Amino acid sequence: MMPDQLTIAIAKGRMQDDAFRLLRRAGVLVNEEALRSRRLAIEDESGRYRFVFVKPADVPVYVEHGIADCGVVGRDVLLESEADLLQPLDLNIGFCRIALAASEDKLTNNFGALRVATKYPRVAAAHFGARGVPVEIIELSGSVELAAVLGLSDCIVDVVETGRTLAENGLKVIEEIATSTGRLVVNRASYQLKAVAVAGLVNALNEAVNGETAA
Ligand code: PRP
Repeated sequence: MMPDQLTIAIAKGRMQDDAFRLLRRAGVLVNEEALRSRRLAIEDESGRYRFVFVKPADVPVYVEHGIADCGVVGRDVLLESEADLLQPLDLNIGFCRIALAASEDKLTNNFGALRVATKYPRVAAAHFGARGVPVEIIELSGSVELAAVLGLSDCIVDVVETGRTLAENGLKVIEEIATSTGRLVVNRASYQLKAVAVAGLVNALNEAVNGETAA
């Protein structure tokens, strides 16, 4: 292992391929076969980076605890997380929105608080809290649309990317709550203790994203 090797937690799923395309443009080369394998930790060809693949919501956890020095994860996940992380770069990948959606335009529940199903309980609570709307948050971990379809909830707060999942399940966006893109996050201690390595990564990625070197 290189002395200042950086461990980077990558959110598995929608953003993963874009993240590695961007890293390749930044000069970080990862063996294709290793990328397609089921291995949960792989190194790049230079040995300067080790990538670990975790569920999106776990990226801030690994980075905050310093198990990973850096992470690549969506702003949607960071809004929900309470982790204390540095966030030096918008990677401009994985664009999506967090939206309130339902099968009807009119959101009412005649029997009490609006029931909101979501993977983003904090984001949802803050959204309705700011409007003084009483809600019952029903926390789910996936396929959230189904809750509104089957009547477990009156509406959902969920990620919308292409909008296909909503459309194909008879739901529509009522209101956009936030937009999201992939972000580079960095552990506070690593930012100091591995300053040269972190700056090297931030600069290379910034150049790949924006065509310029960070100050
Ligand atoms: C997300 C989200 C929607 C879908 C939106 O789910 O929760 O279900 O993608 O994408 P679309 O607008 O392009 O249809 P994800 O794939 O992250 O998995 P999940 O069902 O576990 O939430």
